[in-house]
Amino acid sequence: MLKNINPTQTQAWQDLTAHFEQAQDFQLSDLFANDSARFSKFSAQFGSDILLDYSKNLITEETLTKLFALAKETELDAAIADMFSGEKINRTEDRAVLHVALRNRSNTPIMVDGEDVMPAVNAVLEKMKSFSERIISGEWKGYTGKEITDIVNIGIGGSDLGPYMVSEALGAYKTRLNMHFVSNVDGTHIAETLKDLNPETTLFLIASKTFTTQETMTNALSARDWFLAKAEDKAHVAKHFAALSTNAEAVAEFGIDTDNMFEFWDWVGGRYSLWSAIGLSICLSVGFDNFVALLDGGHAMDKHFAEAPLEQKLPVILALIGIWYNNFHGAETEAILPYDQYMHRFAAYFQQGNMESNGKYVDRGGNPVDYQTGPIIWGEPGTNGQHAFYQLIHQGTKLIPCDFIAPAISHNPLGDHHPKLMANFFAQTEALAFGKSREKVEAEFFAAGKSQEEVNELAEFKVFEGNRPTNSILVKEITPYTLGALIALYEHKIFTQGVIWNIFSFDQWGVELGKQLANQILPELNNKEEVSSHDSSTNGLINAFKQWRA
Ligand code: F6P
Repeated sequence: MLKNINPTQTQAWQDLTAHFEQAQDFQLSDLFANDSARFSKFSAQFGSDILLDYSKNLITEETLTKLFALAKETELDAAIADMFSGEKINRTEDRAVLHVALRNRSNTPIMVDGEDVMPAVNAVLEKMKSFSERIISGEWKGYTGKEITDIVNIGIGGSDLGPYMVSEALGAYKTRLNMHFVSNVDGTHIAETLKDLNPETTLFLIASKTFTTQETMTNALSARDWFLAKAEDKAHVAKHFAALSTNAEAVAEFGIDTDNMFEFWDWVGGRYSLWSAIGLSICLSVGFDNFVALLDGGHAMDKHFAEAPLEQKLPVILALIGIWYNNFHGAETEAILPYDQYMHRFAAYFQQGNMESNGKYVDRGGNPVDYQTGPIIWGEPGTNGQHAFYQLIHQGTKLIPCDFIAPAISHNPLGDHHPKLMANFFAQTEALAFGKSREKVEAEFFAAGKSQEEVNELAEFKVFEGNRPTNSILVKEITPYTLGALIALYEHKIFTQGVIWNIFSFDQWGVELGKQLANQILPELNNKEEVSSHDSSTNGLINAFKQWRA
């Protein structure tokens, strides 16, 4: 069971607080100047494919030693063992947390309630293999005997973001199928998606752990109506609808043949479900073998997380550096910046992964915390971000630790695009760390023939303070395997932080209130009466909405 340890009451926290007194003045330029071995000390390789450089952070060996002490005092090792052994560490939902079982390629038994989950995991994988192969090969025919050409995954949150992110990130591995992902309850999303599709050649995957989510069920019903408007006979639904869910009863009630249901279990959190049956769209998008390679990559990172010495665990290093900025430097956000167009949904995916997991203010003892927990996660692919929001990262007033991620080998080695992309990748972390001094700015001005007066007027605006921290994750190539490892790296970072912050990372009660109120408001929108049951703002908005539609 995860212990209830207030991190701020540990000796390590006191030591870190004292250490921060000097550490807040660390200058990256000094740290590098004083230690020629800094890169080799503060970088590590995962296998032969992933290099993590964390040397451009405001840390010394002493900082890290104290941070590792925090991980020890908050009993991180025991928490990791608890997760991998199937303990019900998601206590507020009384569930185990076993996305690691879904990618447990060594197939060692993992027990939940006295039962090994691996046979069921493997059986669903087999079913995903044969189904996806029949669709991709064209053996599976639609109701008029035609091959399936288009897949529409209908899901939201973890039932959308994960499979969508991976399908896009592995764009270089695409099968012949056209993939579509519909999530928003805004009718525009499904209407625009279906506009150019043919019901005879379209397969819908209804992806929902609970099979009750309003957005997904609304979109699924509209998809079924659209399909039946042409196919007419309900018996044809069996050839065009599959369900990815834990809820067999609701799937059957919807009218989907349970033969076409791909099961997963309550110990798979929604935002960790891309490794489960929710990954069926990934199998269709890139082929089953590539899905297995993704699982292999995730599993390799799991083994590293479970077995490497604490000080060498890459997820722990990232987590502790994050805590250093979040809890000591007072940083509020973290940016994830992939220099890879295929990875354009990576930050959005971990926005849910991180913020739904660690956006909590109640600790494991049930008390409000008096320290910061999860950061705000955001980001866009480079180089686009450079021309949008990097200004604030370079010269704004906020500290924004950034993760830069890039592949050494591009899947599209067109002309000199990739060297240009990578030159930007390397340049940004260098610029953020070391900035540009006033002296240098002045020298450049004088060299360009500016007068002293012009220099005095403009120089300050062109100074870069630098000292802005980054991690660089250089990946040999974005393959299913390396992507799997990267995703698991971030998942375990989030887990580590949740353990240290003494919160429950695997529930998400914070999304419930809005859902409840929306359910109360919905019937009020279906009549012409003026609403007065809410506060004056909500009443005013609802009544204006009704008036405009009258
Ligand atoms: O937003 C809350 C949430 O429960 C997420 O955790 C989950 O990924 C999403 O809704 C979708 O849930 P379901 O897969 O049950 O439709």
